[in-house]
Amino acid sequence: MEKNKNFFNIYDYLAPIYNLLFKWFLFKSGSLVASHVNKIIKPNKIIIEIGCGTAYQAKLYKRFKKIILLDPSSRMLDEARTGLGNKAKSFVFLNIPAEELLLEPNTIDFAIFNHSLNVINKPKEVINTLLKILKSEGQIIINTKLKEKNENIFIVIINKILGVFLQYDSNFSIDFFKEYNHEILFKSKFYQIIIIKK
Ligand SMILES: C[S@@+](CC[C@H](N)C(=O)[O-])C[C@H]1O[C@@H](n2cnc3c(N)ncnc32)[C@H](O)[C@@H]1O
Repeated sequence: MEKNKNFFNIYDYLAPIYNLLFKWFLFKSGSLVASHVNKIIKPNKIIIEIGCGTAYQAKLYKRFKKIILLDPSSRMLDEARTGLGNKAKSFVFLNIPAEELLLEPNTIDFAIFNHSLNVINKPKEVINTLLKILKSEGQIIINTKLKEKNENIFIVIINKILGVFLQYDSNFSIDFFKEYNHEILFKSKFYQIIIIKK
């Protein structure tokens, strides 16, 4: 596995307690994404999950031809490997930030972000690279918290504080997706699932 040494990532420090802290908050939407993935993607497809964290979601995937799990935090990937147990052997781990992803065009069928797109420094650059890497029928599946218009000031403040602590962009909104061929698959107060097609 390629090692990435020059990247400060708060998730390296959160890794040992990540599941404990976020289980009730993030995992419900993650399992919804996993059941969507298992339903719509055929087993002969190649998928990449960007910012996979502890892989609690990847653990729920059925078997695919290849699953690449990418995360710049080596400690999150260590937790992922431990959590996956025997299943870890069937995954490919990439310890790099998404901005450094270099794959041949037309090699991946699906890319998945679960609460990670708004953590990435250059999300547009990453989406544009993925659109080149994806095969013609490929899709990007994104689960994220979008900033609402006229959001309650209390939520805005909490979101900003959490944003600084967890290194995410609390201003991330649906406007980001306007230039892409996208559709909203699911919408709740706390998260949205968006699909970008090639
Ligand atoms: C909020 S966590 C989400 C983890 C997991 N997907 C989940 O749903 O629990 C964000 C993840 O994105 C990763 N991350 C941070 N910067 C990244 C980057 N530039 N490229 C890819 N992943 C990144 C972090 O290491 C962390 O594991």
